[in-house]
Amino acid sequence: MKISRPHRLNPLIMITVIIAVILAAGVVWWLLKFQTAAPKKAPDPQVSSEPQTVVSPQPSFDKKLYSTIDPTSLWVIVNKQHPLTPIDFTPADIITGLDGYAYSQRIDTYLRALFKKAETDGIAISLTSAFRPFSGQQTLYRNYAAQYGQATADTISARAGYSEHQTGLTVDISGSSQPTCNFNPCFVDTAEGKWLALNAREFGFIVRYTAGNEDITGYNPEAWHLRYVGTELASILAKEKIDTLEEFFNVKGGKVYK
Ligand code: DAL
Ligand code: ZN
Repeated sequence: MKISRPHRLNPLIMITVIIAVILAAGVVWWLLKFQTAAPKKAPDPQVSSEPQTVVSPQPSFDKKLYSTIDPTSLWVIVNKQHPLTPIDFTPADIITGLDGYAYSQRIDTYLRALFKKAETDGIAISLTSAFRPFSGQQTLYRNYAAQYGQATADTISARAGYSEHQTGLTVDISGSSQPTCNFNPCFVDTAEGKWLALNAREFGFIVRYTAGNEDITGYNPEAWHLRYVGTELASILAKEKIDTLEEFFNVKGGKVYK
């Protein structure tokens, strides 16, 4: 009778299996370690179906884009330290515009848009001064000096050759809600004065002479005196809360004439 013996594994097979298991474990470990550490390839924007977020750098404002000296520049700074050059400068692009007033053709579109928006908002404004030639400014200043004396005249009126009105880029606005405040300090508190302070910048105009800045601008506040500088500059001045062109461009101003 044949006695069956318990089945015994061949030692050679056992050693082969053990080596194979160890090798397989090594391969798995290697794959896990190096595949997870490998840098992930950036998705190809041309084939990826994922939406791409493009973060473009904010272009910085170029303060040198236009001259602050050239009398034909939108950014020309005219103050008691910086007369127009030549002093009797006359812009070449003066037109007869809104309400029959003369001003630079460059501001016409923006001024009309400002008046249209005012009308839409129920604000009744009118133009009461715009371009003034050298001779007109001379007459105006002399009249103020005769009426109030030179020291007071210098706080409210520019001498000929030193007025922004001579650039054709400046206008004076009046309102109908409180006529006695037109050309007066209380204009700043009228509905029209408040509206202009908030809305003029959208059309490229700034209120040029503001309270607290008399030592920089050289003049008493004039909430009715709007200077066109373009929408880009007007909006950055508002964003950076800078009231004066002198501060923004680091240009000398003040109450004293050159
Ligand atoms: N009233 C301003 C300062 C001018 O005369 O230009
Ligand atoms: Zn003015």
